[in-house]
Amino acid sequence: MYAAYEHFSRIAPKYTRLRTTDLAPVRYAVKKLGSLRHIRAADVGCGSGRYDRLLFQHLNERLELVCVDDNDGMLRVLRKDLYEHAPSLQVLRARAQALPFASESLHCMFTFNAIHHFKIRAFLHEAARSLMPGGLLFIYTRTRSQNSRHIWGKHFPQFYEKEQRLWEFVELNNFIAEVPNLHLDKIRIFQHRRVARLRWLLQQARQRHYSTFDLYGAEEFQAALAEFEQRLRRVYRNPNEVTWTDENLMLVARKMA
Ligand SMILES: C[S@@+](CC[C@H](N)C(=O)[O-])C[C@H]1O[C@@H](n2cnc3c(N)ncnc32)[C@H](O)[C@@H]1O
Repeated sequence: MYAAYEHFSRIAPKYTRLRTTDLAPVRYAVKKLGSLRHIRAADVGCGSGRYDRLLFQHLNERLELVCVDDNDGMLRVLRKDLYEHAPSLQVLRARAQALPFASESLHCMFTFNAIHHFKIRAFLHEAARSLMPGGLLFIYTRTRSQNSRHIWGKHFPQFYEKEQRLWEFVELNNFIAEVPNLHLDKIRIFQHRRVARLRWLLQQARQRHYSTFDLYGAEEFQAALAEFEQRLRRVYRNPNEVTWTDENLMLVARKMA
């Protein structure tokens, strides 16, 4: 079991509601897939399936998707929310480092906001093994530097310091370069302008919407939350309109022949 397993079990029923889902990376991936008629794909670390819903909305019946996650709670929510919209969906409980796919069987693989939880070297080898020659691996993530610049990294005490699981671009690039038949094809940075009420941000944190919050002790968390609220009240005149920019990174790696 991976370190944040308990966290994801606890948050699974509320996960989709608590997190902000970005359409831009899905649109980007759909464009990269071009006119491929039939797309056999996997989403690894799929969680409650919020990105899978978008993938189905944009690729419709062209998509044959297997959703993979190691957490039963997350997969239970995904089945409940997605089966009626996507009856062709397959759901598998498995680990990213040992994927249940035949070699060279997939046109593409996605992983959204999850790679920093995986045993990354083993995952990339498994991705490369599972992809057909020419197949694409889409990695949507946040780097440690990007994490330092969003509302939590900037204003929530110790958030950035505690979250050391995220990778920098150079590290991800090096991991990909280690896999003989995987080649980094494209890098895209996404910037998302956000507006939220302070009340909503406090509610998200209290529900521990990022697993980073589980790295705090109970008292430490309460003190940090109070400090966060004070800081935001100082910085933003209108607590109903807290604004910031979230940044994410999409790496597209290609399986070479
Ligand atoms: C931050 S959540 C992201 C979920 C989803 N991709 C999204 O963006 O909504 C990370 C997910 O990765 C899963 N996960 C973590 N380590 C894993 C592993 N080694 N193998 C498979 N899934 C894993 C967790 O259970 C969790 O559902």
